[in-house]
Amino acid sequence: MSALIGKNILLGITGGIAAYKAPTLVRQLRAAGANVQVVLTESAQKFVTTTTLQAVSGVAVRVSIWDEAAESAMGHIELARWADCLLIAPATANNISKLANGIADDLLTTLALATQAPIFIVPAMNQQMWSKPATARNIQQIKSDGAIVLGPASGSQACGETGLGRMLEPEQIVDTLLVHFTTNQALKGQRVVITAGPTREAIDPVRFISNHSSGRQGFALADAARKAGAEVCLICGPVNVETPNQVERINVVTAQQMLNEVMSRLENCDIFIGVAAVADYKPESIATQKIKKCPENKNTSLNLVENPDIIKSVTQCTRPPFTVGFAAETENALENARAKKQRKNLDLIIVNDVSDIRIGFDSTENEVTLIWDSGEQLLKRAPKNEISQSIINSIADVFNSLQKP
Ligand code: PMT
Repeated sequence: MSALIGKNILLGITGGIAAYKAPTLVRQLRAAGANVQVVLTESAQKFVTTTTLQAVSGVAVRVSIWDEAAESAMGHIELARWADCLLIAPATANNISKLANGIADDLLTTLALATQAPIFIVPAMNQQMWSKPATARNIQQIKSDGAIVLGPASGSQACGETGLGRMLEPEQIVDTLLVHFTTNQALKGQRVVITAGPTREAIDPVRFISNHSSGRQGFALADAARKAGAEVCLICGPVNVETPNQVERINVVTAQQMLNEVMSRLENCDIFIGVAAVADYKPESIATQKIKKCPENKNTSLNLVENPDIIKSVTQCTRPPFTVGFAAETENALENARAKKQRKNLDLIIVNDVSDIRIGFDSTENEVTLIWDSGEQLLKRAPKNEISQSIINSIADVFNSLQKP
């Protein structure tokens, strides 16, 4: 059931080109079950019409504090109290500057001062405007006043420039509100570090050793952990998967780079989940030039040396986080996984039988067994995003049971 059902969203729209996405945002909020009251600023009306927004929200749009008919139906203070949250999308540099300084010179900024509900700000502006110190100061100020700032995203802009300043997409905004209103947040406040994807170990400038990990399983777990209330950092090898909303992503290539990034984040980590298929070995040396085919030699060989074991380094640190490993097995899956859990000193291991081509590497589904000190749990074959929610719930149960005195 959607956590937005029956929630009252006061949606402020300010005057930027991204306002053209507002009707889609309203439709998606309503589809998720929310009641939406739109408030337009004067300049927003140059980009999107009250007629359109009234049609999609099903409610008369508010534009002015001096509208006597609207004020007598529901005054602006009542409107501020009605809201379960105030969402401003898009929020221009001008609007953010007013919020940072407590200016209340129109209906929207007055509501922002009058409401006790959480305030979500979704900036949208030219990349130069976003990078100006004044904007940075204002963003810092509204954050320390308690506003939650979503985005901006980077990419091509309506003005023809490229950079940071694009408004987040409506589905990302709705997704964040869904998480905000979800009460069952099993990992609320926990800091989770997840590794995902393959690593690549160079042989020469054009060749490398790697594997078939797509990153899907690790990315799906990052999304599920974030939806369970965690702050998530995802450290991944070269993959082609979209970063989940509100997840910090760090790109690496080699096992050594992945190890360095993991170790530098351990101090602030409550739960570590190693999903990455880390190359166990790497070439002893990397040829500086492309290795030539030699017609006289039918056979050749490559000298390999062991890579660092990332997850073992995590469990060997002074104050290890709750550590979850994966085991990719092709035979005696459960037996090998139990031994791996012991060998790597893990709190929990998740085993997938990667000899089954329907699951595991580069597939959209997985079937896993979770093994921890006092139990085992089979999660039957399901899409990786679904199975990830169950995995995160189980990790949270075991983790939370160990935190109790
Ligand atoms: O990315 P997908 O296409 O979605 O596929 C998902 C997956 C099959 C990669 C994933 O479900 C999975 O099984 N990941 C673990 C892959 C693996 O390398 O397993 P392993 O049994 O070799 O390693 C055991 C554990 O040690 C793993 O947590 C691994 O991250 C870790 N490890 C291994 C080697 C190493 N040098 N350092 C490590 O930290």
